[in-house]
Amino acid sequence: MRRLVAETTLDVDDLIAPLFVREGIDSPEPIHSLPGVVQHSRQSLREEVRQLRDLGVPAIVLFGVPETKDATGSQAWNPDGVVQVAMRDLREDLGDDVVLMTDLCVDEYTDHGHCGIVDDAGRVDNDATLDLYVRAAVAQATAGAHVVAPSGMMDGQVAAIRAELDSHGFIDTAILAYAAKYASALYGPFRDAVDVNIADGGDRKGYQQDFRNAREALEEIRADIAQGADMVMVKPAMAYLDIIAKAREEVDLPLAAYQVSGEYAMVKAAGANGWIDEDAVSFEHLIAIKRAGADMILTYFARDIAERLQ
Ligand code: PBG
Repeated sequence: MRRLVAETTLDVDDLIAPLFVREGIDSPEPIHSLPGVVQHSRQSLREEVRQLRDLGVPAIVLFGVPETKDATGSQAWNPDGVVQVAMRDLREDLGDDVVLMTDLCVDEYTDHGHCGIVDDAGRVDNDATLDLYVRAAVAQATAGAHVVAPSGMMDGQVAAIRAELDSHGFIDTAILAYAAKYASALYGPFRDAVDVNIADGGDRKGYQQDFRNAREALEEIRADIAQGADMVMVKPAMAYLDIIAKAREEVDLPLAAYQVSGEYAMVKAAGANGWIDEDAVSFEHLIAIKRAGADMILTYFARDIAERLQ
């Protein structure tokens, strides 16, 4: 009876698996603060995505860890950069079987760890940064990405990327906008995963949202939709269920939520200590995110949940 009347379900179709690929390694490397998640080698990534496909996971989002970083993050648009090479592999292996998404930002590629160009005063230059993002978008689409996911929170990024993709003929490449992305302390383990240290103890409060603000999230979401986003995202998820619910009330586009690295790490750590039941809590969290109104969830539990739902 409870099954029959349940208002919310979690299905493998709701899952997007975030994956990391690292340049110059031959076998996967564990990420100490993200137990069970690895930096993939080119080869191990191919195998992982094939397995996810076989488990029915409909989508992945790829992050790159380059061997070299510089002030502008130029490996983000190098046609032979780590993500572009990996995308070509995956597209060749899988065609359209799995929706291939690329995170579109430069923080993994810059030596200062910011999501854009830093000016002499140490500020991120919003408009100059858009030039980098559009180059990365075209490189990712050329390599075979079905969806690009701009995560840098620069104003105007969606419009700039849409225009550049269209002018290169990538009219079918969709944009999943990290629309309401908060400056959260929950991204800590992710920065281990991509070897990012923000220079001089800096932070992203100048471009990501203040977690005291809710209405602002709706402004960000409206702006991204007006600029041509095909799907929008709220990030992080669990501490932002109110934002997901508000966005759901207002938005009829597909709505994604990102259960971020710190959310995953907390469940894993407490589970490993025997303090909580990891399987039960991870399922409860994902159901809560769906109940709040998300259509799809980016989660490091994707593979695990897909196996449990078989
Ligand atoms: C930026 C980006 C970040 C995450 C996804 N894209 C890091 C940041 O904004 O500092 C975090 C994801 C996570 O914590 O799981 N490229």
